[in-house]
Parts: sequence; structure tokens; C-alpha cells
Amino acid sequence: MEALLQQIEGYKAEMQAATISDAAALEQFRIKYLGTKGLVKAVMGEMKQVPADQKKSFGQILNDFKLFAEARFEELEASLGNTHPETRNSQTDVTLSSSKGRNPNLDYSLPGEPIPVGTRHPLSLVRNEIVSIFKRLGFAIAEGPEIEDDWHNFGAMNLPEDHPARDMQDTFYINKPTESNGATWLLRTHTSSVQARVMETQKPPIRVICPGRVYRNETVSARAHCFFHQVEGLYVDEQVSFADLKQTLYFFVQEMFGKNVKVRFRPSYFPFTEPSAEMDISCLICGGDGCNICKHSGWVEILGSGMVHPNVLENFGIDSNKYTGFAFGMGVERITQLKYQVNDLRLYSQNDIRFLKQFTGVV
Ligand code: DAH
Repeated sequence: MEALLQQIEGYKAEMQAATISDAAALEQFRIKYLGTKGLVKAVMGEMKQVPADQKKSFGQILNDFKLFAEARFEELEASLGNTHPETRNSQTDVTLSSSKGRNPNLDYSLPGEPIPVGTRHPLSLVRNEIVSIFKRLGFAIAEGPEIEDDWHNFGAMNLPEDHPARDMQDTFYINKPTESNGATWLLRTHTSSVQARVMETQKPPIRVICPGRVYRNETVSARAHCFFHQVEGLYVDEQVSFADLKQTLYFFVQEMFGKNVKVRFRPSYFPFTEPSAEMDISCLICGGDGCNICKHSGWVEILGSGMVHPNVLENFGIDSNKYTGFAFGMGVERITQLKYQVNDLRLYSQNDIRFLKQFTGVV
């Protein structure tokens, strides 16, 4: 037994003295001492020859020896650890190999590779803000399809087939096989179509906000696009008045743009409302003094609105003598342009990361 003890001490001294300069040397160390045919295993095998009465104390010694070898291995592994894996060469080095199954070629203490995180699109940020303001007033969110039939987009909104106001919105028609009801299909030109969808399924009181994408057959330029985004609002109940419309939209503007912004209503025309009005706000860029954005008028238009036309209510079986309502529709791009001074509509859909990342955390 004496000889074995001496052998163990010898191996320990050898291990202690060992130095390694690279992963290959570390691996050799591991194979020599800790491998399946290594010295630790070999010494353990000697246990068979140990007399029964000495087995216990010897077992302890052998166990300590094993722990010593493992600890020394980890020490040497750590001494390599400060080297960046990429500076250690040779692909053959990269094997899963150590007493703990860890790869000695990897530095586990290095920080991870950053994963780039996307940001919200400015239009989403502004849409969310618009929606959250109206939610605070008790409006619910409603959505409808982007591929719409003629009835929901036009007919129900008081624009019969020969109505000249259809020309106000250049429409993309769709070659979809005509259904049994003879419907013509199109890409919705405004989110007013969602008003129709809501009134079809709900009875007053109705208070909804409808955000969504709309399409028009326009040549793409800095000022026009073939698709853009709107938020529609609809409020139908007993005794809803134009004063309610004004107060609601005034609240919205103050929340969205701040208390100092002025608003004005101009009479206008929309087939689905009577009376109708467009709302302007004092120009945020020049404060009302006049600039390019407001075309030197000091005012910019931000939405269309009005009292829901009785024909629209009656189209859905809502008694227009009992109920009245107001509606409005605004362009999300326009509001975003005013808030962030974006002057080219094309930027919103070009996906230029330098443009998009400017809006991180701004809202
Ligand atoms: N649908 C109109 C458009 O796209 C906007 C609009 C005007 C919506 C007046 C309304 C409204 O609900 O009452 O130009």
C-alpha cells in the first residue's frame, strides 16, 4: 500500500507543477488524469487489492485524490478562461470535454452578443395614443375588414352608386368572384366602413373608436400615398348633440397636443353626416404665425366630422327620431406629421431603420 500512496503523492505533485498554455494542453491534462483510461481511474482500480480493514481509510484517500485532480483541472481551465474564444485557434479544439462537460474553448464569463430589439413604428405609437385618449372617455375599440364590399364602404354610408362624392375617394376595386348577393369588392377607402359594421351588429348606445388601414388609388408622393391609416369615431345615443362632438374633439386635441393648442371648426360636406365640419388646430410648427406646413394660414386641418346622417342610422334600423350621433375620422399620418414634423409620407413605409429608431420611447 505504501507504494500506492507514494504514487498518488507523485501524481499530485506532477499535477500541481503542470502548466498549460492552450486548450489542447488542457485537454491532454484531462485525458491523462481524468479520462476513462486516466490515472485517477487506474488508481481507483487498485482498491480491489486493498485489504478489507484498510478499505475505508484508503477509500477516503482515493476520493481526495480524485477531487484534487478535478480541482486542479478547473484551476487550469480558469487560467485559460480570460482569453477570448475567437483568439484561440483550431476548430478541433472545440469539443465538449471536461470533467463537468463544459467546453474549455468557451469563456462563460463573457457578456452575450446583444440581440437588436425592434422599436414601435411611429404610426403605431401615435395610433395607440389616440386610442388611449378615447378609451378614457369610454370609447370601445372596433375593427372591420380591409377588403370590404361596396355596401359597407359606400352604400350604407349614404353614398349610393351614382353619388358624385364617390369620386372624392379613388377606389381600388377587386376582382373577387361575385357572391350570390352580387356584391362588388374593394379595398376600403375609409374606416367609416367600420361604422357600418358596428351599427349592423350593435344597438345604441354605441361609442366606438375604429383604427385601421385604408387604401386609395393615388400616385405615391411626399403628400399622398396609396395606403394610409385612419381612426374613426362613432357615438350614437339619445340626445347626442353637436356640442358633445365639439367638446369630445376639443378634449382629444388638448390631450394629444397640449393645452395651448387652439381649435376651429369649418363647415364642410360629407355624405354620411349632416351637418358636417372639418376641424383645424393652430399650427404646431409656427404657433399660428404662418409657415410652409400650414401654408401660411396658421391653421392645419386634422379631421372630418359631423352629426350622423339620419339615412345612415335608418340603414341599420336605428330610429333617427329617437337617436342621434356624431362621427369623426382622422388621419394617423397627418397627426404624426404634426407631432414629429415628418414631411414625407413615404418615410412611413420605406422601413429605413435610421428613421424608425428615432421614435423609441418618445410617446
Ligand atoms: N371618411 C372621411 C374620409 O375618409 C372622414 C370622415 C369625415 C369620417 C366625417 C367621419 C366623418 O366619420 O363624420 O375622408
